Amino acid sequence: MSRVIMFASGKGGVGKSSLAAALGVSFARRGLRTLLIDADMGLRNLDLMLGMQDQLLYELRDCVKRRCSLEEAQTAHPDYPNLKLMVGGQDAKPGDFDTKDLRRILKTLSRRYDLILIDGPAGIGRGIKNFFDLAERFVLVATADPVCLRDTEKLARMILDRGMERPYLLLNRYEPKYIKQGLLSRAEDIALSLDLPLLGALPNSDLVYRMMLQGKTMAESDDRALMVGIENIADRLLDIAPAAQEQAQRGLIQWLRDWMRVQVMKP
Ligand SMILES: Nc1ncnc2c1ncn2[C@@H]1O[C@H](COP(=O)(O)OP(=O)(O)O)[C@@H](O)[C@H]1O
Ligand SMILES: [Mg+2]
Repeated sequence: MSRVIMFASGKGGVGKSSLAAALGVSFARRGLRTLLIDADMGLRNLDLMLGMQDQLLYELRDCVKRRCSLEEAQTAHPDYPNLKLMVGGQDAKPGDFDTKDLRRILKTLSRRYDLILIDGPAGIGRGIKNFFDLAERFVLVATADPVCLRDTEKLARMILDRGMERPYLLLNRYEPKYIKQGLLSRAEDIALSLDLPLLGALPNSDLVYRMMLQGKTMAESDDRALMVGIENIADRLLDIAPAAQEQAQRGLIQWLRDWMRVQVMKP
């Protein structure tokens, strides 16, 4: 059974899609069967961020309307076969899917994947509420400014009021240089003040935008701080998914075996 992790934010444009795409790549490279679902209904970002815009034939909305099978709505990434993408629908509205549909679909999908990452819409509207009891854990992506943090706090409260597990805080576009100037608090202190466990703090980097223009994620950049940041976040997320962690270890052992076989066969 897979773990279902939902990326959400109180405010838009904070990096949910960029981070979900990068983590999807990181998990797939570790040998984990990973499904990314673009659930920002009415918008579509992940296909472009993963350079897959020419490969998608169907959307989840087609599947709910019985115009395609669930299988056809999942598209494999050209470079990482373990990574599949499924998009909600460019013209879809949150009301096109009811929780029952989504529950049924997720139940079927969770038998086939180690991890399901859902990239949700910003805000506290119906689009996110549809997923409240379906996702096992929420990751709240935020930038470290008071406006964004206030919205994050509100969303966290809504999730906790549903009796769900305490969501993770993931700070993005974090600029440690402002700490010395007294303008910004330490990431750990921000998490403490919101009473949320900190998943990580990723730096702001011009490379993210450059990678996006090439249909690549920050997991594929050669910026060390970004790469290490993403891998650490992926490690922490696997801590909450022990079965997936075991699978990742098996993937690593298999990779080592294959590598050793190639070395032995070399003339
Ligand atoms: N760590 C980062 N450093 C610099 N730019 C970033 C970073 N993370 C995201 N961005 C940029 O922020 C913008 C919004 O990101 P996106 O992932 O679309 O946010 P969301 O899905 O929350 O709306 C994009 O232009 C993206 O390239
Ligand atoms: Mg987005």
